[in-house]
Amino acid sequence: TRVAVVFGGRSTEHAISCVSAGSVLGALDPDAYEVVPVGITREGAWVLPTADPSRLSIADGRLPEITGQSGAAVVLPADPTSNGLMVVDPADGVSSLAGVDVVFPVLHGAYGEDGTIQGMLEMAGVPYVGANVFASAAGMDKEFTKKLAAAEGIPVGPYAVLRAGCSLSEADKERLGLPVFVKPSRAGSSYGINKVSDWAELDAAVAEARQIDPKVLVEAAIVGREIECGVLEGEAGGAPEASLLAEIVVSGHEFYDFEAKYLEDGDAYRLPADLPAEVTRQVQEYARRTFTALDCAGLARVDFFVTDDQQVLLNEINTMPGFTPRSMFPLMWAATGLEYPKMIDRLIRTALS
Ligand code: DAL
Ligand code: MG
Repeated sequence: TRVAVVFGGRSTEHAISCVSAGSVLGALDPDAYEVVPVGITREGAWVLPTADPSRLSIADGRLPEITGQSGAAVVLPADPTSNGLMVVDPADGVSSLAGVDVVFPVLHGAYGEDGTIQGMLEMAGVPYVGANVFASAAGMDKEFTKKLAAAEGIPVGPYAVLRAGCSLSEADKERLGLPVFVKPSRAGSSYGINKVSDWAELDAAVAEARQIDPKVLVEAAIVGREIECGVLEGEAGGAPEASLLAEIVVSGHEFYDFEAKYLEDGDAYRLPADLPAEVTRQVQEYARRTFTALDCAGLARVDFFVTDDQQVLLNEINTMPGFTPRSMFPLMWAATGLEYPKMIDRLIRTALS
């Protein structure tokens, strides 16, 4: 089976996608698969690495990046002295996918996790891992994720949507209360997110989020625990399956921000989460139902809050969750008994079925 692993891309999560792909490439059994790594630069150029990209990683806080230099492109860490430097050849977009059996788009954020590459692959008739066009677009956008999930009876916290040019009304300030979280509606890895504890800080936070997305969400801060669940599409037409749960445990940070996610030493989670059996079942049920509500396929990581009185609220869904060595999706499935290479096999099998 020829598998193209596509990574990098035009979103703010470019570097994280590179690290995720490094990890996926390292887990793909070379005896079972013929692997074609395909990089996309921040500008959108498609490139074919000619050296081993499975070493792409975060080294001493330095992030990898695929970048073009004077016509030729190279994949390199932001600091070229760290490992992972490799030479790549320019490729011709989708034609670099010619002859592959399946594409694993390990792309996070805009132009990758949002239905765009999925649409291109549908047009070209190439099977791919993960959610289809609609589910990708709906899952990428925190407004529509909440609306679709809420319509299926999945509880979400109070929030307001600020479309381009709009600001938060006094009524919404009163309704949401302080503190609030200000987020770009379509982003990931905590880029552009700020906690606001004084309304005087709101405008700056909205402006920062708008650098990523003109549409911004203002969410009431939920007092409680942050719980994540992995979901895999059922095999042979079966129902979606939920993993063991993980609790995010952040210390020294206001929230689970980019640094806490990727750059801190030590673990930022408890796996399995220590929750009453009933709450665990509820989270897993909501995770499966969110997956179905959005028409997801393949995989998703669904993130929740559990309040002090054990109320479960949906936070967001990730239709192409991180696969970095610190990312929760592969860790949760490994803890559930599905080791990393087997989980990747299953994703590819599902995409081909
Ligand atoms: N958006 C990042 C990659 C995640 O959800 O893991
Ligand atoms: Mg996310």
